[in-house]
Amino acid sequence: MAGLDRCFNVDDLRLAAKRRLPRGIFEYVDRGTEGEVSLRENRAAFDRIRILPRVLEDVSARTTGTTLFGKAQTMPMAIAPMSPAGLLWHEGELALARAAKAAGIPYTLPTESMTAIEKIAEVGGTQWFQLYLWNHRPHSYALLDRVIDLGFEALLVTVDTATMPNREFNSRNGFAMPIRPSLRAGWDVAMHPGWLFGTLARYVLTSGLPAAVNHPEGYREAIFRSPPDDATGIDRRTTWDDIRMLRKMWPRTLLVKGILHPDDARKAIEAGADGVVVSNHGGRNFDSAVASIDALPAVADAVGTKGTVLLDSGIRRGSDVAKALALGAKAVLVGRAALYGIAVAGEAGASHALEMLRAELDKTMGFAGCRDVDAIGRALVAP
Ligand SMILES: Cc1cc2nc3c(=O)[nH]c(=O)nc-3n(C[C@H](O)[C@H](O)[C@H](O)COP(=O)(O)O)c2cc1C
Repeated sequence: MAGLDRCFNVDDLRLAAKRRLPRGIFEYVDRGTEGEVSLRENRAAFDRIRILPRVLEDVSARTTGTTLFGKAQTMPMAIAPMSPAGLLWHEGELALARAAKAAGIPYTLPTESMTAIEKIAEVGGTQWFQLYLWNHRPHSYALLDRVIDLGFEALLVTVDTATMPNREFNSRNGFAMPIRPSLRAGWDVAMHPGWLFGTLARYVLTSGLPAAVNHPEGYREAIFRSPPDDATGIDRRTTWDDIRMLRKMWPRTLLVKGILHPDDARKAIEAGADGVVVSNHGGRNFDSAVASIDALPAVADAVGTKGTVLLDSGIRRGSDVAKALALGAKAVLVGRAALYGIAVAGEAGASHALEMLRAELDKTMGFAGCRDVDAIGRALVAP
């Protein structure tokens, strides 16, 4: 479907996504902030790490399976929360949730998704929820109650957006939320009929324009409208007290997403979190931020056995997953790699991305002499 058979790696999927999506939307997904240093560094840092191969270990029978928060899964990955999935593919979050379930890994639904939480819960599988605390807290707490009732198994509180990111490319290409209709945007969309008819038209003909459907009533603004006030804006005053309070409210696994400093990792665990996600938000927030993979070893040392460390930002190859595991992560979140997949072919595209990552991880393990993921340790990485 949609040329997936010609996509041999995540970079191929990225190029196919670029062809299908209007430029403004593709760049919103693909690019970083300011000079895009941290976006490039996420990749460069992975590429700098070399693996020391091991030989004659009989790795003919290998498994990428692991256990995460007490639950078996097929590989040490989960899908990261990404708000515009529903803009790339009709009900793109459903496509991601189904692909994750089929692959045997968790899916993380973001606060700002365009598909109702209840619909995602119906998919089944392992589901996590990502929370941005809103300015008007009672709205956030009501949302949290729904997420608890629906049985989501982990809550990821994203804490790395203390200020508005400076996405200069969006200012240049005219794409920002809400989308302002313009001649340029109209031309951009008209030149991408696959997206126009396959995604936008399907919304218009079924549920109406894509909107923030999980917001409280009065704030479910469609993509062309601003909310009436900033009650559902991300609360920039969030502190560790909020994590302590969420710990009391949330009965299951609690993770703090967006940690790069070992002291912050310690504070997260002290505040009651079960673990942290080492992340620089895929280079989308702070352009001077350290690459996640470079920050990982110190965070893993700081957390030790007191919690679980996950990592995201820059995962494009199965060997990246092995490197993250070697440096202290228990699993990784797959970000844009899965988004490019749904942009190209919905669920089938996301499944293709996940399968490529799984197969590459499996091969890496073979070359590195590892029969299972527990055998991946720091010795895997060349000094
Ligand atoms: C288009 C896009 C939207 C995102 N939206 C969210 C979000 O709503 N909440 C969140 O915590 N992280 C969000 N992220 C960050 C991802 O969860 C993840 O940290 C990042 O994509 C990992 O980097 P990678 O894309 O290089 O794999 C978003 C990322 C992208 C690319």
